[in-house]
Amino acid sequence: MNAGIVPRFMGDEMKNETSLRKKRGSKAATLFIRGGRIIDPGRGMDEVGDLLVAKGKIAQVGHAIPQNSLPSDMLSQANNIDATGLIVCPGFIDLHCHLREPGFEDKETIATGTEAAAVGGFTTVCCMPNTNPPLDTRDTVEWVKAKARSDAFVHVLPIGCITKGRKGKEVSPMIELADAGVVGFSDDGDSVANSQVMRCAMEHSYKLGLPIIEHCEDKELSKGGVINEGEVSDRLNLKGIPAASEEVIVARDLALAKLTGARVHIAHVSTCGSAELIRHARERGVSVTAEVTPHHLTLTEEMVCANAKVKPPLCTEDDIGCLLKGLKDGVIDAIVTDHAPHTTAEKKCPIELAAFGISGFETALGCLMGLVHKGEIDLTTLISKLTCEPAKILGRDDLGTLKTGSLANITIFDPMREWIVDSQQFVSKGKNTPLEGYRLKGKVMVTIVDGQVIMVAGQHATPR
Ligand code: DOR
Repeated sequence: MNAGIVPRFMGDEMKNETSLRKKRGSKAATLFIRGGRIIDPGRGMDEVGDLLVAKGKIAQVGHAIPQNSLPSDMLSQANNIDATGLIVCPGFIDLHCHLREPGFEDKETIATGTEAAAVGGFTTVCCMPNTNPPLDTRDTVEWVKAKARSDAFVHVLPIGCITKGRKGKEVSPMIELADAGVVGFSDDGDSVANSQVMRCAMEHSYKLGLPIIEHCEDKELSKGGVINEGEVSDRLNLKGIPAASEEVIVARDLALAKLTGARVHIAHVSTCGSAELIRHARERGVSVTAEVTPHHLTLTEEMVCANAKVKPPLCTEDDIGCLLKGLKDGVIDAIVTDHAPHTTAEKKCPIELAAFGISGFETALGCLMGLVHKGEIDLTTLISKLTCEPAKILGRDDLGTLKTGSLANITIFDPMREWIVDSQQFVSKGKNTPLEGYRLKGKVMVTIVDGQVIMVAGQHATPR
């Protein structure tokens, strides 16, 4: 690490570059994180205190741990992190990202994608199966898991396809995929257009106890669309994608979830109508959860450029109001990045031809903290949507928590640090951000995975 960028909060022990670099498989060091504001929403904790990490796990957490209460051998090995003025919280969990491997390594790899995730404070990411080949067999899922074991900086949980080849015709071998370790099923990038196929997939997923994660888009309605259908698309004479394209599939899938009892997770909710449908279904006891992205919470259809072209499209201020309301009252459970890296060539072209997607890992927190600074959402709610709430959807009570004995997946961020987005500094291969040159306030400073410091303020150690 270069001395000029040693963060101010690092203890002397960690200023030495070699203390940051871990050999793959090496034992995690003891860490003593002092004086941070510890926010662990799952346990209702919000207090200034210390956190001790030993053997990769949370050993102690709470109000000012006296140094003389720690075993002397532990203390002598401890790397001190002075977290004064910083937020210490469970490592972020991203239920929805695209790592692009296998098949689209020009856009991203498991190595570069998870490195970018670590920079963004994510310690666990769920990767979508729209790869080449798609993750619709045991072998492809196992291949991703093996590649993640060797290359990844953070935990990678694969999602399997709903249908064979993502073609929407035949249900994938869901039992085999579940056995290989997928955490849910999705044809993300596409909806399953055929309702009978979806019904069948839901029946299987119900038996397997795993969620169907649906990308809601009626392709007949969205065909040829570039941005949201409305005032802006009319003014610019660009083909629009109507809100109904999302909402008709949300409505259908909620009906099918009611019919089958399956657990449905609605991906990247973007409209008021969808949020209302989900609210209504929840009230009637349908097993539904939902997610929203930082871009749908912060940008509107007024932003028209290739790097803001995304599916679903950016919507209106009113939609943002509904999404924020949904987050606050629990209708929307989680915030996900939908990190969708593309090559520069796929974005440096007329908007009509550009690929859909935003590279989101590295700007997510800064973007979301803007909502906190404006008083649109409180900090604890925001952190819960990135930690304990996604953990619940995954059914993993060992993730998204700082409870003693759990794996030490920790994110430390500076809520006040201002920085300017420069995509050339992204570690992701995807430079496709609509936020180029924007000043954001809120930055991840340290990411710890299983007790190992993986990233310090944009610098990083080796893969796990
Ligand atoms: O904009 C998007 N890009 N939305 C999706 O649902 C898929 C993603 C991709 O894979 O590029």
